[in-house]
Amino acid sequence: MTLLHAKRPGLTDRNTLRAEARRSVSDGAVTVAYGADREAVIAMLQNALATELTCALRYRQHHFVAKSPVSPAIKNEFLEHANEEQQHADQIAERIVQLGGAPDFNPASFAARSDAEYVSGTELRQMLIENLVAERIAVQAYTEMIHAIGESDPTTRRLLESILAKEEEHADELSDLLPRE
Ligand SMILES: [Fe+2]
Ligand SMILES: [Fe+2]
Repeated sequence: MTLLHAKRPGLTDRNTLRAEARRSVSDGAVTVAYGADREAVIAMLQNALATELTCALRYRQHHFVAKSPVSPAIKNEFLEHANEEQQHADQIAERIVQLGGAPDFNPASFAARSDAEYVSGTELRQMLIENLVAERIAVQAYTEMIHAIGESDPTTRRLLESILAKEEEHADELSDLLPRE
């Protein structure tokens, strides 16, 4: 009994908590405790989504144009990265929906909203460099987004941190594959 009536120091009292949860049911996962500027976070995630989609397409194109007999490992690596960038795009889209937004997959505009560039593949070294540059852009962009979010939205922050770790892994793999001049 004592526990049931325990005070909640530093926290919203139980009656208010229940009333607030019931008041804005249409807000879904977003409550009054959400600490970030929701519109700003959604806008930031839309740009990240555009970047991931651009990277997924660039890697996929590079996978197909890379000559398999010369470099099967690199050709496969491009496909693996393409699929992982698409997975990041899906995770970001899911978070945009949780925050009450609609993910923007419009192909007419996402290239212009992407931090990384879409560059068609020609020869292997050029493809490796273009992808490494794009990964380095992603690493810097995600690091800055994580700093901007700080403690205001822990779920978005954890998502961005997990994506950042994967982008760093991608950059490292490309760096290892790049022939030294
Ligand atoms: Fe990614
Ligand atoms: Fe990546």
